[in-house]
Amino acid sequence: MLFAPSGPQGPRRRNRIKAILTTVGIVLAIYLFFFQPAHKNPARTDRGSYAQQRGTDKPDTASGKRKELVVASMKDDNTSWLYEFFPDWTKSVYVVDDKQAPLTVTLNKGRESMVYLTYIIDHYDTLPDTMLFIHSQRFQWHNDDPYYDGVPMLRNFQIPYLQQQGYVNIRCVWTLGCPGEIHPLTDTHRNAVHAGEYFKDGFMELFPDTPVPDMVGVSCCAQFGVTRSKVRERPKSDYEQFRTWLAETSLPDDLSGRIMEYSWHMIFGQEAVHCPNAEHCYCKVFGLCDLSCPWEGACDGRYILPPYASLPKGWPYIGWKGQKQDPSHGMPES
Ligand SMILES: *[C@@H]1O[C@H](CO)[C@@H](O)[C@H](O)[C@H]1NC(C)=O
Repeated sequence: MLFAPSGPQGPRRRNRIKAILTTVGIVLAIYLFFFQPAHKNPARTDRGSYAQQRGTDKPDTASGKRKELVVASMKDDNTSWLYEFFPDWTKSVYVVDDKQAPLTVTLNKGRESMVYLTYIIDHYDTLPDTMLFIHSQRFQWHNDDPYYDGVPMLRNFQIPYLQQQGYVNIRCVWTLGCPGEIHPLTDTHRNAVHAGEYFKDGFMELFPDTPVPDMVGVSCCAQFGVTRSKVRERPKSDYEQFRTWLAETSLPDDLSGRIMEYSWHMIFGQEAVHCPNAEHCYCKVFGLCDLSCPWEGACDGRYILPPYASLPKGWPYIGWKGQKQDPSHGMPES
């Protein structure tokens, strides 16, 4: 009853008590928020201890989850865009043809797959929550973007969806690779960019306990996201065995790389044919949900197969015919 207003207290006195109580309350709240020992304040504990453990590294998100770009590059590639546009991602940039680079591979074989396997093997016990395995160039013909630009592609990438799925291909359009790129049991020799008749033997060596599928499909080009728990569904020895295969195979790089390119989705638990509907894929993977999609393999205004694999000098401001173009809207003229 201490503060209960009673007979002799007038309205002015009551107001003064109210003011004092309010002030005391605010001061107490401020004290508790800032000075309470950290263990009683979970939000502060997370950030504080995380930052301390990781030295100067900042947590990538408020929850302290780590996300990393694992990049396969060559020494002439310009990777500064990754630092410019994605400062909040940790980056492991491997330079396959430079033995002096901070990160490289002992044997430059099998294209990007040697980098990806090396990263997984070397970090198996300390993997981040989220990993995107990508190529190094900002503009490259296979990026799923109207101007083949890696910046919007990575910016739009939906990490929560990856966390839910475990593995996500960073490409939705079905050209090239879907709905069925390889028929291991019946393919005969095609030109060198196709795994052709080599896929079957490669598959049997990589996955000795798995029956050879009669069709393999995934949208091309070996850029994908994967979570730590998905990687760890296989023991480290599996990845070491894949790398040994790569090191020992007599197949040339383009073929061994190609076989790995069409195996990652199976390594990470997907069906041999992994070709999600493009409309669904763009919405879930990139958050692009209001597209018009004339068929299950493509949506309007997203991607056309370029006439050449090398983009013209000056791209995206210079087009295929040397003309000026504006990459801020529409599709490039092909
Ligand atoms: C690399 O690309 C950046 C733009 O992201 C550019 O400013 C820089 O000049 C390029 N570096 C080289 C060596 O071409």
